[in-house]
Amino acid sequence: MVIMAGTVMLAYYFEYTDTFAVNVQGFFCYEGAYRKPYPGPEDSSAVPPVLLYSLTAGVPVLVIIVGETAVFCLQLATKDFENQEKTILTGDCCYINPLVRRTIRFLGIYAFGLFATDIFVNAGQVVTGNLAPHFLALCKPNYTALGCKQYTQFISSAHACTGNPDLIMKARKTFPSKEAALSIYAAMYLAMYITSTVKARGTRLAKPVLCLGLMCLAFLTGINRVAEYRNHWSDVIAGFIIGISIAVFLVVCVVNNFRGRQPEHEHSHTDNLAQMPMISIPRVESPLEKLQILAPLCWHSTVMHLKTKTLRALLEQNQLYK
Ligand SMILES: *[C@@H]1O[C@H](CO)[C@@H](O)[C@H](O)[C@H]1NC(C)=O
Repeated sequence: MVIMAGTVMLAYYFEYTDTFAVNVQGFFCYEGAYRKPYPGPEDSSAVPPVLLYSLTAGVPVLVIIVGETAVFCLQLATKDFENQEKTILTGDCCYINPLVRRTIRFLGIYAFGLFATDIFVNAGQVVTGNLAPHFLALCKPNYTALGCKQYTQFISSAHACTGNPDLIMKARKTFPSKEAALSIYAAMYLAMYITSTVKARGTRLAKPVLCLGLMCLAFLTGINRVAEYRNHWSDVIAGFIIGISIAVFLVVCVVNNFRGRQPEHEHSHTDNLAQMPMISIPRVESPLEKLQILAPLCWHSTVMHLKTKTLRALLEQNQLYK
């Protein structure tokens, strides 16, 4: 909870405060790469922020809750308790349902990844301060005052712009593209969830179609940024790489491809010891119990061995007669 709160706080500071000042990049007079027309505020985009955020937050929550409920009901119906999550008992009053455990874990990691992606993207934007394709349309530099006579003259002054300071600030935060990173992160996480959780028959082609459809929507969201002159190609590609990397890392290394129980041999000795008091039905084949059966046998044979050795030594010294 503490780590999660810290992550959310950091994302908030990046998103809604000017705690971290944007790096001010200069530009050449009349530079072609930044002279695209201003496409209007974000809300007039084909993929407005409201739509993007509600989809990235809403769709995975919906799909994971529905998916987990289906998995749980199937396990109940087929009495497949072998692969089921353990029920945790905490005292007599409260127990955590395996369905709730899995759902909270997958959604919690998803939310963490969403904020982590946001932090990565914002940090990149603040540190680079790359200019948007429509930057000069908002900056409105006074070329006569700046003395622009040739195209090769570089203007690095932070006060060269005469336009709206808030809009100019936003136009300095483009690398990497946040929209591309968030959408591809959501699509990737969801695609991996569907691929590794849905095991129904007749879905060999339905699953990839669904997953690639999601990826395609995310891809189009990124491409749309370039089409609307809001981002460069490089911003979108960097956003895609960040989103995909974070999703793959979290799914493969943190939630273990959404698997249920870990295989037996992956449980270490100490792990079992730590979990013992919390498991409602102790497992029979734990290494600890094997040890308890084997230990007396070992002890017995060791003692016998020592006794024989001592007897032999005494015999050799003729002291047994006493
Ligand atoms: C640009 O700067 C020049 C010289 O300082 C000034 O005469 C002119 O009015 C300025 N133009 C605008 C649009 O502010």
